[in-house]
Amino acid sequence: MRLTVIGCGHLGATHAAAMAELGHQVLGLDLDPDKVTALNSGRAPFHEPGLDELLTRHTASGRLRFTTDQAEAAAFAELHFLGIGTPLGPDGAYDLAALRAAVRSLAARLTGPAVVVGKSTVPVGTAAELLALLQDAPHHVELCWNPEFLRESRAVQDTLRPDRLVLGFADRSGGTGQGRRAEALVREAYEAVIAAGTPVVVTDLATAELAKSAANAFLATKISFVNAMAEVCEAAGADVEVLTEALGYDVRIGRRGMRAGLGFGGGCLPKDLLGFGHRAAELGADSAVTLLREVGAVNTRRRERTVELARELLDGTLAGRRITVWGAAFKPGTDDIRDSPALAVADALHRAGATVTVSDPRALDNARKALPHLGYLDDPTEALTGADLLLHLTEWPDYTHLDPAALAPLPATPRVLDARHTLDPATWRTAGWTYRALGRP
Ligand code: UGA
Repeated sequence: MRLTVIGCGHLGATHAAAMAELGHQVLGLDLDPDKVTALNSGRAPFHEPGLDELLTRHTASGRLRFTTDQAEAAAFAELHFLGIGTPLGPDGAYDLAALRAAVRSLAARLTGPAVVVGKSTVPVGTAAELLALLQDAPHHVELCWNPEFLRESRAVQDTLRPDRLVLGFADRSGGTGQGRRAEALVREAYEAVIAAGTPVVVTDLATAELAKSAANAFLATKISFVNAMAEVCEAAGADVEVLTEALGYDVRIGRRGMRAGLGFGGGCLPKDLLGFGHRAAELGADSAVTLLREVGAVNTRRRERTVELARELLDGTLAGRRITVWGAAFKPGTDDIRDSPALAVADALHRAGATVTVSDPRALDNARKALPHLGYLDDPTEALTGADLLLHLTEWPDYTHLDPAALAPLPATPRVLDARHTLDPATWRTAGWTYRALGRP
């Protein structure tokens, strides 16, 4: 099949490469010429494991190309996927200006009937609004809402082997016939994915949009639930790691996505929690917003508690102390620092007067640009030399593999705060370190 992907950020570039991997002829459209040049030379402008290999293979095979030319994209295919970013505006509502502009531009340039497939994360009700915009096109256009559930650092496999496909169409609620061509084309595009046994949920536009908002709200809630339990564990002298194990054996609860620690960050969960809350309030579902606000509040408190625990470990004084931070990315496997819990803590320590040196295997360039006042060193061992305290804030496997006995002589005092619970307390303590963790005795 021929298809386009409009908007080639993390979601769009990955989707374009994955669609080429599935055998389709793909044209990616992005208005940023630097991004298009990088993608055409087989390089993503961000770190995503396995993506550069797909980009290189399929730009070479001729199945995948990127352009800045909107008319070329509109004429290239009948099927158009939308991967445009939807940031939050200052009022906490999604800013849909770029998405609307892309849809208007596509509608005006179409050269024949088309099917548009929305993948961007949007407040419920957006798809219906975009469908109305698409009716201005000189040709018949149908819309499918097909939210994306990929995780950064696993984006390629999540796209090629998703847990489910959600497909929303206008005629599921209205019976207008809108969506028939769309369903056929979308199913054809995902034929290999569906043949591999991926469940397909077919629904109306609003339910499809909500499937994404609710999924991210639930994932955030699960993390904040266990972090709230960590707060109780701290007060009661209990161990949140053992508590999580005990809970997790109940298959209705499960352990996945319920790791206690410094909480969630990144470009999605924090943003979508706020954006969904804002939309729910607009719709009059105020009690839902109360729950979501509390989820956010627990998450913020983990960052504050980490700073306070650092202060306790340094005998009440942060000013003038030397602190090493391992981790700048919002999670391991990415160079993304958007709303990174690690950098939020590093910055708070700096503002409290500490001299902070940050190390990270992938994210230092981005961190340096965002927070130039912090110190940075590539080598986590070198960063530790002379430190009064080590903070483990992003759980890269690189750190888990370091030998605490070999590290112990490097800092001024061997003290570690493990905010991600992946360093083994017994090994670190035996090696002479004072080990503390959130929610653990
Ligand atoms: C998240 C969702 O997991 C995806 O399903 C969704 O498609 C994506 O947002 C999106 O909306 O595009 P992502 O932001 O890549 O994906 O990251 P996650 O792996 O969910 O992690 C988010 C944050 O939660 C990270 O800071 C991570 O360290 C933290 N986390 C995650 C925990 O603190 N505990 C956990 O058990 C899991």
